Amino acid sequence: MPRRKIIAGNWKMNMTPSEAVELIETLKPLVVNEDVDVLFCVPAIDIIPAVEAVKGSNIMIGAENMYFEDKGAFTGEISPAMLTDAGVKYVIIGHSERREYFAETDETVNKKVLKAFEYGITPIICCGETLTQREQGVTIDFIRQQIKIAFLNVTPDQAASAVIAYEPIWAIGTGKVATTQQAQEVCKAIRDCIAEIYDDAVAASIRIQYGGSVSASSAPELFAQPDIDGGLVGGASLKADFGQIVCYNK
Ligand code: PGA
Repeated sequence: MPRRKIIAGNWKMNMTPSEAVELIETLKPLVVNEDVDVLFCVPAIDIIPAVEAVKGSNIMIGAENMYFEDKGAFTGEISPAMLTDAGVKYVIIGHSERREYFAETDETVNKKVLKAFEYGITPIICCGETLTQREQGVTIDFIRQQIKIAFLNVTPDQAASAVIAYEPIWAIGTGKVATTQQAQEVCKAIRDCIAEIYDDAVAASIRIQYGGSVSASSAPELFAQPDIDGGLVGGASLKADFGQIVCYNK
């Protein structure tokens, strides 16, 4: 069975609750594509009004982060049960901004991934190299390490349902999109790594997104690659362009 594309917006720290509802109303008619799972990953405080606002549409709401404990004295954190209760099915884990500004590591990413699965939430597991790593030719080695640690103790069934987002850090928010060849090469290497950890069936089922300055003009070629199953889109997900990105094949 061919993998279904998944195109997700990552709103980052943008949109107040009322702005969120307004943006959803604007985008709703623009992001209809029966070939694609459409997901808006929004700030925690926007989740409840966003879930309400997307009712009756094809849009799903995801979170941008989650803590790896069930509950307790972790001031300021959001638990997996809070997300499921609010209607969230996906959560971004280990975005490079979380790793850089909030000290997340491959180990905390792994804990969050395991906890998300425990609650039936699909993690979108982020990986990606720095410009220095790319220039030093260690991109694939580095990504393989991130993937291997992220998937520690993840069962084959869980892995098959996961989403990975390959986001070269030098391409995020810079307008410097990776070339189609660069993106495809790494996404294929990630799939090969999953096949090594698990088997070909898991590798064939897991969905791998590309992220990093995806735009309406770059999306069609990127998403046509054999190992790229959609995108994680930051800046362009906050405007009407996101409709063109979702409808990349129309
Ligand atoms: P960008 O962000 O599309 O603005 O580069 C992508 C991301 O960080 O997920």
